[in-house]
Amino acid sequence: MPARPILRIGHPCLLQTALPVAEFNTPALDALVTDMRDTMAAADGAGLAATQIGVLQRVVVFGFENNSRYPERDPVEFTVLVNPEIQPLGDETGSDWEGCLSVPEMRGWVPRYQHIVYRGFDPQGQPIERNVEGFHARLVQHEVDHLDGILYPQRIEDMTKFGFEKELFEDPLKETPAEGSC
Ligand code: NI
Repeated sequence: MPARPILRIGHPCLLQTALPVAEFNTPALDALVTDMRDTMAAADGAGLAATQIGVLQRVVVFGFENNSRYPERDPVEFTVLVNPEIQPLGDETGSDWEGCLSVPEMRGWVPRYQHIVYRGFDPQGQPIERNVEGFHARLVQHEVDHLDGILYPQRIEDMTKFGFEKELFEDPLKETPAEGSC
């Protein structure tokens, strides 16, 4: 299946709350997951939510070995997560630069819970439960936010740390701050 167009910030679908998947192990769910996987791969994304291709169902995909958008991050096992739920473990938060395929060429400094447990199902209905931290935890919080109509700019507390990658960073791959003269 070809990659589908990714909706960009401003599109009203991205503000909608997605509905739980009622039936597992169906051709329709398998087709959706295939499209999401292909779309994420074509865009070299680290994750994708169904809402980003205009499907209001609670399905996210994420994971990468090496990702050019996040070269310094540890790999995350490729996962399809249906009807996900997140439980923070403790109050500890941390901030890091975050991007989104629906907010192209931009980055923001976003606080997230450091440790979480996430639960959900694979497309066959088998339960998944993982205790994760750091970038893996960030990625899942970002994707599940999409299912509730939340984009990462809404999570930024210091709006001076939001902008175009090419303006923010001297070297976008290393996230070294730009000196810049003006
Ligand atoms: Ni995103």
